[in-house]
Amino acid sequence: MATILIVDDLKSTTDAVAQIVSANAHNPLTAASAEEAFALFKESDVDLVITDMKLPNKSGLDLLRQVREIDPMVPVIVMTAFGTVKNAVDAMKWGAFDYLTKPVSMVELEVKLDKALQQRSLLLNNQDLQLENNYLREEVHQQFSEIIGQSQEMQEVYSLVKRVAEARSPVLILGESGTGKELIAHAIHTNSDRSDKPFVKINCAALAEGILESELFGHEKGAFTNAIRRKPGRFEIAGAGTLFLDEIGEIAPSVQVKLLRVLQEKEFERVGGTETLSMRARIIAATNLDLEQQIASKQFREDLYYRLNVVSIQLPPLRRREEDIPILIAHFIAKYASELGKKIKAMSPAALKCLCNYTWPGNIRELENTIERAIVLTRNDQIDCEDLPIHIQQKNDLASDDSVDEEDLTKNMEDHEKKLIFKALLETRGNISKAAAKLNIKRTTLRYKMEKYDFLRYKFE
Ligand SMILES: Nc1ncnc2c1ncn2[C@@H]1O[C@H](COP(=O)(O)OP(=O)(O)OP(=O)(O)O)[C@@H](O)[C@H]1O
Ligand SMILES: [Mg+2]
Repeated sequence: MATILIVDDLKSTTDAVAQIVSANAHNPLTAASAEEAFALFKESDVDLVITDMKLPNKSGLDLLRQVREIDPMVPVIVMTAFGTVKNAVDAMKWGAFDYLTKPVSMVELEVKLDKALQQRSLLLNNQDLQLENNYLREEVHQQFSEIIGQSQEMQEVYSLVKRVAEARSPVLILGESGTGKELIAHAIHTNSDRSDKPFVKINCAALAEGILESELFGHEKGAFTNAIRRKPGRFEIAGAGTLFLDEIGEIAPSVQVKLLRVLQEKEFERVGGTETLSMRARIIAATNLDLEQQIASKQFREDLYYRLNVVSIQLPPLRRREEDIPILIAHFIAKYASELGKKIKAMSPAALKCLCNYTWPGNIRELENTIERAIVLTRNDQIDCEDLPIHIQQKNDLASDDSVDEEDLTKNMEDHEKKLIFKALLETRGNISKAAAKLNIKRTTLRYKMEKYDFLRYKFE
């Protein structure tokens, strides 16, 4: 149950809103002026303020500023008469969470109330998480320094990492770009008894076929035109440590054959050499490609796949572990604020909302870049929507708020349709003909869809 402070000089409005608040199992407090409201705010534990813009002495905007000065984590929703939406937009610039046009519609109020309270609990959680994060980071420093995430999905990853760390068998790390494959490869190494030996990385996609081969296995003097002296390869340099083969899915067929042989026989020769060297390194490979599909299209050898895939670790995309987003944000703010020498105190609720609603196709790398950029751009000690890239800023509106589950297309399209219809009905105050025109569909189609989504029972005015 949340405590909600409702401010309006018209008693009929505060009563009506209070009634809806109570009906939603929250506790309403009412005030008729900004002064009265502020006094109440200071003495009670208020979770959300809903205030009219036009009040007798001080305005709703004054109240908004006072409230935010004391506690910026309490969202404020402003109410404004129809036709004066510009005032509300100004209020948003001052940090209002959202606005309602009067007369207030019950559905709209309920939706916005819910969102504001969700937002508040997210912000409070985020604050707790920052503290908890500091503590956990101390505790797991040895094991998983710098790997952030407490979701169930990540817990499973940590537990796998711990279990495979001691073994010698190859590990295959799978996951979309930016999900932390390299970080996990490193964690496996530091958690193993090889941690005092080298961790050697090679990016298989970056090197041409012939160079990759000599980089991996080394070459003898005179092996090819430019081989002026003998050069050890990465297998040799890694010794009894760990060799991380990044982007293994991109490796050329001829090198695949050679790699398979090393994995099978634990032996190799330098390019142009005859001496047989033994392979002692532990192999960790990673890719963001679908290797089974690569096998099907004959681009990747099945036998090599089985050799590499003795244990595999699948890293979840960020959109599957949304609860880690706030803690990652906190982590990257701390990291880049100190790196860039800026003091960043907070993130505006609206900006946090955008970041949480976005689906992060580039995963953690994209989130990290976004935060770094925002810290560079921000002109004050708070990150705001305007500091985010435009396509992420757009995640602030009603039509795009929930994150999208890309695999379920039908459900996705329905969710999207539902939101657009809801939005059109709100904007036309429930006028079906106007909403249909806005959506560019037939009136009868809209009626049908409203029935399907159970919107007929709502009053949108
Ligand atoms: N759980 C995490 N906690 C903190 N930082 C993370 C986490 N996962 C990834 N990162 C950071 O995100 C960036 C991308 O991670 P990494 O390079 O390991 O991804 P990747 O899966 O190898 O991506 P690609 O497939 O594009 O190579 C790095 O800067 C890394 O430090
Ligand atoms: Mg990588």
